[in-house]
Amino acid sequence: MNGTRIAGLGHYLPERVLSNADIERMVDTSDQWIRDRTGIEQRHVAAPHETSSSLGYRAALMALEQARVNPEDIDLIIGATTTPDGLFPSAASLIQDRLGAVNAGAYDVNAACMGFLSAFSAATQYIATGAYQRVLVVGTEVLSRIVNWQDRGTCVLFGDGAGAVLLEAAPYGGPLGFVLHSDGSRKLYLYAEGPCGPRDAEGNGAPPHLCMINMDGPALFKFAVNAMANAVREALGKSQLSVADVDVLLPHQANLRIIQGTAKSLGIPEDKAVVTIHRYGNTSSASIPIAMSEAARAGRFEEGARIAICSFGGGLAWGSMIYEWSTTGVAPERRPVAAASASGG
Ligand code: COA
Repeated sequence: MNGTRIAGLGHYLPERVLSNADIERMVDTSDQWIRDRTGIEQRHVAAPHETSSSLGYRAALMALEQARVNPEDIDLIIGATTTPDGLFPSAASLIQDRLGAVNAGAYDVNAACMGFLSAFSAATQYIATGAYQRVLVVGTEVLSRIVNWQDRGTCVLFGDGAGAVLLEAAPYGGPLGFVLHSDGSRKLYLYAEGPCGPRDAEGNGAPPHLCMINMDGPALFKFAVNAMANAVREALGKSQLSVADVDVLLPHQANLRIIQGTAKSLGIPEDKAVVTIHRYGNTSSASIPIAMSEAARAGRFEEGARIAICSFGGGLAWGSMIYEWSTTGVAPERRPVAAASASGG
């Protein structure tokens, strides 16, 4: 089985910033409420001409530039988005075209806020089996297009953005263990209907407000902390590691209190968690790759660090991956591992 190195990372946030004060002018809310309940201070919103593929393209370009890889050398592009430019073609195909990645296959994954982790885990497996050498994963969203800007319960939470990761086959690095879960029976916790849903006798589809984000916030909140913490425990078990081996927690950015609750439940110090929610809000499929790209650039991931990635979202879907960080593809000198002797791993 091949390992995986992180060859390049990129992220892109649209220029326009929407502050809590701006939202105060749109719905009955306050900066204080939003900060206290979510940790969010501002979010970015796409310009009218921007789309998921255009944001994703910018993030992908940054990743390729960092990697110094030519677009023709990419084998596969997996997009993760719930807000593609259209139902088809995929955002990944549009990004493939703009990049000039003429030798790459392309498709999108839609798993709401689990989209990136789902796409990323698939990418690592294409590489592990030797099927592909270089896979680009792009999480990208223009959630502002499906937010109900009259619903204060949801419109304060979401933002637009994109993040990209170029993975390359290497002797060292990659996933140690991962789990992906789904419980479609809880679909009403978080959903947005679309143009292809059921019709009534008159042939009408869902009314417009159901085609935007609908959410049971408190139910989702309760579910999220347990689901993410348990998924991390499961992924650690599959990796034969324990919580003490986690160097960095890289969670989906939905709510600061969910991130804090997850860290607390796991017994991971809060300062080990990567947090970007205050600046970007919840960017769904883009939140983890944006956070990963920024944290890597800030030097938060040492070679060989064990990163616990975790996410949850519409589906419901949730999961975690323990990722052994490597940009060089070469094993660093082994650092002490608290659980290794206990687990024999
Ligand atoms: N501004 C001011 N008040 C608001 C508000 C807002 N933007 N949104 C809701 N409220 C009010 C409610 O109407 C309610 O008022 P009431 O007590 O008079 O009925 C009160 O604040 C508490 O609402 P509640 O929904 O119980 O608040 P909460 O503490 O659960 O926080 C969320 C709401 C949405 C921030 C929180 O539930 C959450 O983050 N859930 C998870 C959402 C999520 O992660 N979604 C994406 C998943 S990928």
